[in-house]
Amino acid sequence: MTTDPSHIEKAPRSLDQALRPESWKEYVGQEAIKENLQILLQAAQGRNHQPEHVLLYGPPGLGKTTLAHLIAKEVGASLRTTSGPAIERVGDLASILTNLSPGDVLFIDEIHRLNRTIEEVLYPAMEAGVLDIVIGKGPAARTVQLELPPFTLIAATTRISMLSAPLRSRFSGGTFRLQYYTDTEIAEILKRSGKILGIATNDESFMEIAKRSRATPRTANYLLKRARDFAAVSGEPLDLKTVKKALSLLEIDEGGLNQTDRDILNLLIEKFNGGPVGLKTIAAALSEEEATIEEVNEPYLMQCGLIERTPRGRTVTDKGYLHLGYTKPGQPKLL
Ligand SMILES: Nc1ncnc2c1ncn2[C@@H]1O[C@H](COP(=O)(O)OP(=O)(O)O)[C@@H](O)[C@H]1O
Ligand SMILES: [Mg+2]
Repeated sequence: MTTDPSHIEKAPRSLDQALRPESWKEYVGQEAIKENLQILLQAAQGRNHQPEHVLLYGPPGLGKTTLAHLIAKEVGASLRTTSGPAIERVGDLASILTNLSPGDVLFIDEIHRLNRTIEEVLYPAMEAGVLDIVIGKGPAARTVQLELPPFTLIAATTRISMLSAPLRSRFSGGTFRLQYYTDTEIAEILKRSGKILGIATNDESFMEIAKRSRATPRTANYLLKRARDFAAVSGEPLDLKTVKKALSLLEIDEGGLNQTDRDILNLLIEKFNGGPVGLKTIAAALSEEEATIEEVNEPYLMQCGLIERTPRGRTVTDKGYLHLGYTKPGQPKLL
């Protein structure tokens, strides 16, 4: 059996769906974002207006899609979901937009993967609620403008830096960055998940999973399920000891780092003297996808203060050296 760490970031959809919070109360943490969104939504309601467009960004599994669902629920509209890679042609976007009902909330996930031509069709739709369609070709071509039903666009991305400035500027309702969660918040999320999944364990076990969850709800839920499976198969009770065994089998260390995280640190230290090293080099050396490293591993390693991102590449911090058992940069590893 393999323990490919990338699986940890990709819990099955059904688990996400089963555990998705259905109210603001169940949505733990992200207090500033929740407050801002509620003000936006209430103000729109007060003015009897469609809420403005919102952009959500941050690493996978922190709750972007869930927020989109909650916003739609609050607005009392249905959530129409699509994603950047699914919109291949201008016609795809045109058909999505013209099929909206008044007041709908449109969710475009991975919006950084929309191509520029399609983006340009989105601008007037976001700004003025119109769709400019070019009919015909060459000198005979003419533009027809279609009036769209009022709608709110919620877009999500793991890579805000890939969004063009004109696109970013059109999210007049605000751009919100989701934060990593505290251990206490994750433990609270896990308690609820445990109830829904019928997994009985104690607070210290929840806390242990929380500490090793990369501060990410999706990962935490996935680990809870794996720990439960481990207990079931080994016939052990699901207590702290079993949880620890299950997590070490998944190669997650005490700091919550997975094998890829440690491979990155190791590579930077042993092959590149601590860096700086460019993303491409890291990805090639580890045969990992650049996107996974940039969206999943790096943000967490930076959050933990183990690496830094400089204009010339990634460097390991003193804390990063310590994590792998080196006393100091340039010194040999302790046993
Ligand atoms: N703030 C939260 N409170 C409780 N559970 C959450 C929260 N954020 C995320 N989750 C859990 O994690 C899962 C993944 O969240 P999701 O919104 O799909 O993340 P993203 O879209 O950012 O990748 C959800 O289905 C839910 O079970
Ligand atoms: Mg999502």
